[in-house]
Amino acid sequence: MPYPHLLSPYERDGLATAHRISMAPLTRNRAVGTVPGPINAEYYAQRADAAILVTEGTHPAAVGQGYLDIAGLHSDAQQAGWKLVADVVHGAGSAKLVIQLMHCGRVAHPYYTDGVQPIAPSAITADGATFTPDGMQDYIEPREVATDELPALIEDYVQAARRAVAAGADGVELHAANGYLLHQFLASGTNQRTDGYGTDVAGRVRFPVEVAKAVAAEIGAEKTAIRISPGHPFNDMSEADTKETYDALLAALDPLGLMYLHVLDTTTHVDFDVVEWARAGWSGTLMANEGFTEEWDVEGADKLVADGKVDLVAYGRRFLSNPDLPTRLKEGAELNEADQDTFYQGGEKGYTDYPALAAQAA
Ligand SMILES: Cc1cc2nc3c(=O)[nH]c(=O)nc-3n(C[C@H](O)[C@H](O)[C@H](O)COP(=O)(O)O)c2cc1C
Repeated sequence: MPYPHLLSPYERDGLATAHRISMAPLTRNRAVGTVPGPINAEYYAQRADAAILVTEGTHPAAVGQGYLDIAGLHSDAQQAGWKLVADVVHGAGSAKLVIQLMHCGRVAHPYYTDGVQPIAPSAITADGATFTPDGMQDYIEPREVATDELPALIEDYVQAARRAVAAGADGVELHAANGYLLHQFLASGTNQRTDGYGTDVAGRVRFPVEVAKAVAAEIGAEKTAIRISPGHPFNDMSEADTKETYDALLAALDPLGLMYLHVLDTTTHVDFDVVEWARAGWSGTLMANEGFTEEWDVEGADKLVADGKVDLVAYGRRFLSNPDLPTRLKEGAELNEADQDTFYQGGEKGYTDYPALAAQAA
């Protein structure tokens, strides 16, 4: 069998998967407004053989929406939409469905928040612009969220997590990567708070840790995961003390016994090996993504699993274009190429019409 380690079953601390190949979170802009509908359920059901199927970034509050037609999880209608997704996915395969909670913070936009000014740790505008149907629009200065508003912001994550479980999801992944709200708290370039939630490493990790603890207390640590991208400059991010910051974050999160740590291999942006660092500082399940996109990527990932460096591997674009990716890898089959033009638009095209092997053969 090719890739024997990637394709081997995994079990630890009550988390069991048929193999190690997960789907990375992918924003696809195909929700009906902000509610998942049948087309989204079909897309996820097609990928229900992932180990862990992480959904698109989903905002836990209206003010956290940064893109067109992305799903939220703060209303009954959105929860019902996610229940449809969960039911169909669980009927179709063995994947653990994990909803990624993505509050965009300063890279949300009034275009998507009914005119409400985005919030962030500090009033520092992201350099850049965001897509809207009326053309690209510059990011605007966010409002610094007040200290006494932080409990309500935590509660936004908690209620979204509660809704996720009520909808039938197997867990939530807190998006603390790629320049979104929790990452904005971690990074010195976006967090200049002086109220105990900034200033130094201990202050900057405090809010993400409080969110993780509150969500874990609500739905269980075994259903609560987190994604990080140390040093990632995406969304105009900059970090001083990257290593110290993420050391402190891991030290605080590791004892909680979370479902998994999902780390983007950002080694090219920092001066340490991120995957090795994560393995050393994390005693639970470790999932890695990125660094696997070259020709050798699947071989490389198989070796990472063989060497015990990671437990699970997440693929984004490969899963996007190959709904039956684990089967294809098992059978050594060709992979469909991902069509970049339909990543963020196109309805069914480039979304639910990538063929599975069986369909291709027929
Ligand atoms: C179309 C697209 C949408 C993405 N949306 C998200 C997202 O919602 N949340 C997230 O954490 N990462 C998102 N990412 C990043 C991916 O999860 C992943 O880290 C990246 O694609 C690299 O992995 P890959 O080479 O396997 O695709 C997105 C990437 C792409 C290409």
